[in-house]
Amino acid sequence: MTYPLFIPSIFSPASYEAGEIYSLTIYFIIAAMAVLLVVIGLLIYVVVKFRAKPGDGEPRQFTGNKVVESFMIGIPTLMVGGFFLLTARTMKHILPPAPNRQPDVVITGHQFWWEARYPGTKAIVANEIHLPVGRRILMHVAASDVIHDWWVPELGPKMDAIPGRTNHLWVTIRKPGVYEGACSEFCGAQHAWMRIRVVAESEVDYRQWLSQRGQNAVTPTDVAAQTGAAFFNRQTCGSCHRIRGTAAQGNVGPDLTHFASRKTMLAGMMPNNRDNLHRWLHDPQAVKPGSLMPRFIYPKDSLNVLVAYLSTLK
Ligand code: CUA
Repeated sequence: MTYPLFIPSIFSPASYEAGEIYSLTIYFIIAAMAVLLVVIGLLIYVVVKFRAKPGDGEPRQFTGNKVVESFMIGIPTLMVGGFFLLTARTMKHILPPAPNRQPDVVITGHQFWWEARYPGTKAIVANEIHLPVGRRILMHVAASDVIHDWWVPELGPKMDAIPGRTNHLWVTIRKPGVYEGACSEFCGAQHAWMRIRVVAESEVDYRQWLSQRGQNAVTPTDVAAQTGAAFFNRQTCGSCHRIRGTAAQGNVGPDLTHFASRKTMLAGMMPNNRDNLHRWLHDPQAVKPGSLMPRFIYPKDSLNVLVAYLSTLK
């Protein structure tokens, strides 16, 4: 099968924070190129100028040169000091201390997916996270099991997600779009499939999305989906998953209230469609080995109605 391509870049910043990191990176690259040019230049000069000719004896030997040594120590010290100050300044700008207020969004890393809650609303989503453009968003970043790391390169710095601890991150997105990210701390067998999809949109669209996501799940109308809903409850899927507005209130696995509205499934691993869903439910460990979803042996045809039900959860 083909997996979605992921080409993150810190060279196309889309937020104020990523822009600051980009500028700092450019300064570092220019300085590194300058050092490289000077070193290579001197090396070539010495090799050509002092090349041994036939009949040359041993060259004059000497040690200690105060002028050369003070340059050798002084220039690197000045450069490192300068970059230390520049980095400290950038960090101060993009990561000021968290104020004592409710965050706009709370991100939690799980093996192997991301959850986003929006305090003050009922919305809980997985992997596809909407944020508004044009204002400074305060994010809380935490983890439920092991250490993960939130990173969307076009939107700013990484932030460790650590169990038992809440870190924070600021993001001021400048232009609407879809920004891809990934877990950046090795966290287990499926670390590679802990993708992040941030959908940045206007304040109006964001509000609308948030209020839609805050609503309870729709009650299915067609027979297959209704049978699937009943089966979902009988199978105790709800001891791990939540579908708001139903008896399913688990909080181990992803919230499925609006599952079918996601473009991808399994944290960005594949497009969210009936075929993939069917394959996944049939044998989760064959599709994403090491994930926490166990393999259930379903009675004949029950997989089809389960898929029918989950596909109605827009
Ligand atoms: Cu989560 Cu790596």
